[in-house]
Amino acid sequence: MCGIVAYVGYKQAYPILIKGLERLEYRGYDSAGVALLNHGLKTYKIPGKVAELKRFLEDKDLDGNLGIAHTRWATHGEPNFTNAHPHYSQTKSLSIIHNGIIENYALLKEELIKRGYTFNSDTDTEVLVNLIEDIQLNEQVLLDEAVRIALNQVVGAYAIVILSADSPNTIIAARKGSPLVIGIGDDDFYVASDATPIVEYTKNVVYLEDEEVAVLTRGEKLKLRDIKNHEKTPYIQQLEMNLSELEKGGYEHFMLKEINEQSRSVKDSMRGRLNASKALVSLGGIVDYEQTILAANRIVIVACGTSWHAGLVGEYLFEDLARIPVEVEYASEFRYRNPIINEGDVVLAISQSGETADTLAAIELAKSKGAIILGICNVVGSSIARATHAGSYTHAGPEIGVASTKAFTAQVTVLTLMALRLAELKGTIPRSRFIRLLHELEDLPNKIERVLDDKGATKFIASQFKDVHNFLYLGRGYNFPVALEGALKLKEISYIHAEGYPAAEMKHGPIALIDENMPVVFIATSKGIYDKVVSNIMEVKARSGKIIAVVTEGDTTVRELADYVIEIPETEEMLIPMLATIPLQKLAYYIAVMRGCNVDMPRNLAKSVTVE
Ligand code: M6R
Repeated sequence: MCGIVAYVGYKQAYPILIKGLERLEYRGYDSAGVALLNHGLKTYKIPGKVAELKRFLEDKDLDGNLGIAHTRWATHGEPNFTNAHPHYSQTKSLSIIHNGIIENYALLKEELIKRGYTFNSDTDTEVLVNLIEDIQLNEQVLLDEAVRIALNQVVGAYAIVILSADSPNTIIAARKGSPLVIGIGDDDFYVASDATPIVEYTKNVVYLEDEEVAVLTRGEKLKLRDIKNHEKTPYIQQLEMNLSELEKGGYEHFMLKEINEQSRSVKDSMRGRLNASKALVSLGGIVDYEQTILAANRIVIVACGTSWHAGLVGEYLFEDLARIPVEVEYASEFRYRNPIINEGDVVLAISQSGETADTLAAIELAKSKGAIILGICNVVGSSIARATHAGSYTHAGPEIGVASTKAFTAQVTVLTLMALRLAELKGTIPRSRFIRLLHELEDLPNKIERVLDDKGATKFIASQFKDVHNFLYLGRGYNFPVALEGALKLKEISYIHAEGYPAAEMKHGPIALIDENMPVVFIATSKGIYDKVVSNIMEVKARSGKIIAVVTEGDTTVRELADYVIEIPETEEMLIPMLATIPLQKLAYYIAVMRGCNVDMPRNLAKSVTVE
């Protein structure tokens, strides 16, 4: 959702900005723009994609060493030319880009109108830049001071970068609730919503904290203050990301690359945390909180979307292995429903991006009630990772495709490690079973390789169903979250309506949908309540539904009933989600490609949902 890139230094800014916007495209957006300081401020923007902006700029003078650039995902006002960022202040001496929402913008706007300001756009951003200009002119203060004073009047979330026609060496950046990373070069600075536009220039970064204002002057040191005017010392970190992780590496889409990376990413999630031959499992990030978790009455998992599905698998794992009661909550519901949270309760937030606004708000709410907050995040240094008391990174590497794939299997891997460790400490698992599970987990990346190498089976099935209008996904036990995840993958990238259900719930409603046009995907692996799932398959078959089944290698019963089968290797029941989800990701991917959909950037979706 919305992307920010900015540069101040001695290089040409435009190539850095436009490449940065391309790197941020995965976040989702509907308009794009650039402002450069080049004998005055020049602003260029369009509704549409970065490629269109690039074409529009082909014949323009793009000289300049300072610039800001933005991709906007519309909130206040439709995605058109006037609402696109950057926005000028009234005198055109300031230009701003902004992510987030200024909640009291209407009130501020009213005041500014009374003071003679007029507005071109419907955005809250134009209000903010005029407020800053008004303060600068009336208080006769420097730009960074005007920004600081203005931000004290603002309610809401922001990540902003401002350029001034009167400051040819400096840009100002600030954040609250929306991420902003500053890359520190030799004598220059890069700013972006995440590290992806920065990594090819420098690995030294500072993640701005909430309510910090940064003054970035080329050739000088980074200066930081908070909005209460306290000086802050920048904490410089090293990026672990590599440039190759941000490229498609020969694949047609990032999603396909990321699906195929899962053997490696699951291995990376376990690296240094699991040693089956020594019967060791530990997660360094939460080691100090193990006794707190064991002492808690329950764990509340908060997350959204795919991460919520991983949370459901987590519920089954924690209850099954460690006998700890778990509730899994949509973060967006949790934050507004006055939940009962007591001091010492453990809340576990799961998020790939670490920036999801609802999950962040759920954390803040639980924290205010005295809960201990743990996190499972993929993006290092993200807001959620920093808002939690402790946690474990998934180490899946950057996930660029909007549809989450390798992040899900990595989240489930970390949840499995956590559940095993807690079960070991609590003594709720026989030693022999514990060791067997560790070995099986360690071997999982090999089994994932075998799942990925399906000899074209999912692609063929996709070709048979690419034109249908509906899909049903059914599973039981550990395979119920897999059914939900399979349905989510299909609907978000192919725009086919899909529902995930617990298989036995089918006869309480969805069975009415079944006829010869309804494909039903069963996750019908041989462990758990297999026989019951077979009965559900028969119920669908009796009504002429088309059956696609994910089965365990060597299965004959379901094979006889199903129209199409996809085999996965046998594994322990609780590890099946990590294998069974993968063919469903591939099925969704191939159907979407065959329907001509934009797989990596599906319509209306954003990679990190930073507004509620
Ligand atoms: O970054 P997060 O894991 O917090 O994101 C949560 C959801 O927005 C995300 O999983 C979304 O549902 C994906 N598009 C699913 O593929």
